[in-house]
Amino acid sequence: MKDSEIVVKNQDQVLQALSSEIYPIIFPSRLELVPQLNELYELELAFYESQILADEEIILNGGYFARVGETLTRHFLICEGEPVRLPQHSSSRLRSFFQKNQFRTGYATHGLFPYRGKFHPQMIKGLMNAMGLKPGDTVLDPMMGSGTVSIEATIMGIHSIGVDISPFCRFMTQAKLDGLSLPLKPIRTALDNCSLTFEYFTALVGQPEQGKKIKRAEKTASLFSVREGGARIDLAPRPGTRLPSGCEVPEVHNFLLLAYLDSAGYAERSNRKSPFEQFRAILERYLFVAEKIQRVLAGVESNLGTAKVLEGDARKIPLEDSAVDGVIFSPPYSFAVDYLENDSFHLDFMGVDTETLREKMIGLRGNALDEKFELYKADMDRVLSECARVLRPKRICTIVVGTNNNQLSKILNVQPEEVQGIHEILCDLASSHGLRLVRKMNRQISGIANTMRTEFILMLERL
Ligand SMILES: C[S@@+](CC[C@H](N)C(=O)[O-])C[C@H]1O[C@@H](n2cnc3c(N)ncnc32)[C@H](O)[C@@H]1O
Repeated sequence: MKDSEIVVKNQDQVLQALSSEIYPIIFPSRLELVPQLNELYELELAFYESQILADEEIILNGGYFARVGETLTRHFLICEGEPVRLPQHSSSRLRSFFQKNQFRTGYATHGLFPYRGKFHPQMIKGLMNAMGLKPGDTVLDPMMGSGTVSIEATIMGIHSIGVDISPFCRFMTQAKLDGLSLPLKPIRTALDNCSLTFEYFTALVGQPEQGKKIKRAEKTASLFSVREGGARIDLAPRPGTRLPSGCEVPEVHNFLLLAYLDSAGYAERSNRKSPFEQFRAILERYLFVAEKIQRVLAGVESNLGTAKVLEGDARKIPLEDSAVDGVIFSPPYSFAVDYLENDSFHLDFMGVDTETLREKMIGLRGNALDEKFELYKADMDRVLSECARVLRPKRICTIVVGTNNNQLSKILNVQPEEVQGIHEILCDLASSHGLRLVRKMNRQISGIANTMRTEFILMLERL
């Protein structure tokens, strides 16, 4: 570059530049962003919402705005106030996490039951808007996990179909969906009669030893089944125990059961509180969460979307061709997380043979790591072909995925920085099934323990 081309700004120009604001260049002044928006991908999603949605739509379904003119958005109303009622002994780190993420994650029934690899719900809302999904459309998550897409879609009036190979995911998602509308009086009764409720579930489910991981010897398959059309209980109460009256309704029973399983998981990991105290604290939180979201939903005149929750295989999606208006999912990131190990207590309780399930779980199939990786790619190829088949033309399939470079570098025998990202592999596979990349966003992952630094959001158009 020649010297004459360099235009050095003088200090007046520096000051002038500093006095101009970026916000009005990107957004109309009547739109006020939610607090705590501090990542670039969030700004991108907010931008797409402002471009794609009318003001009324932002008020009802926007994920990144607190206010349009004088009117507060529904997202703001759902999230404001006390984030979640945490048990008193909760660490200050956990408390600050919930406060910092009040508008991102800990709202509606999303915070119930910890599930690894869960989506940020606010991001899902923003993505559904950016994909052009409207109330009355249908979205699919073929690997729904804890059901973030189903819950968020329901609140937005979008119909949803969630599929997961794990029966526990199906049970958990259904219970969290039920939390949006179930009668709350029986839950209060269960809390008022907490020892009775606790005794009932302890007799039914068993209780992990405090601070220890245990395997249940006895499977309970004959007692529990999850069927088409929602979770259904075939559980006969154990002699000498009963639930407080009104709690036998399946939705209520399953909501309480999820709280019990949640508390059993805590008891396995920590012995700071007795299992009973842990259960009471968690049930209190479940009630608080359901009351909070139901209060907001009752105050808004809009229909909830309907949600179908299925147990099934993403490699063979149980839907007709061109059945949905959008697909969003996050596959296991290669074989970074052993979901079966995480859920072993609950799966055992449900009578699921984890070894049979393992053979169908993407990322867990195979023995040696290189065999696992080959199977992973072949499985993901089938999943992407299925996603393309069930998606209508011009509609969007969004995938959120990261790469565990350290793990892959060992398999491929290359340096971690030379590893081809899973997102690139998936994009290549997708294009062979008529899915064309239209937008890619990066999302930084925080946390020291995490070997992954970035996740990618891939938006693919069905040609
Ligand atoms: C990263 S998690 C999804 C988490 C989810 N996005 C959420 O918000 O909770 C991946 C999910 O894929 C599911 N999965 C693995 N193999 C599957 C298969 N063959 N068919 C359907 N789901 C499968 C696992 O059970 C797990 O729940």
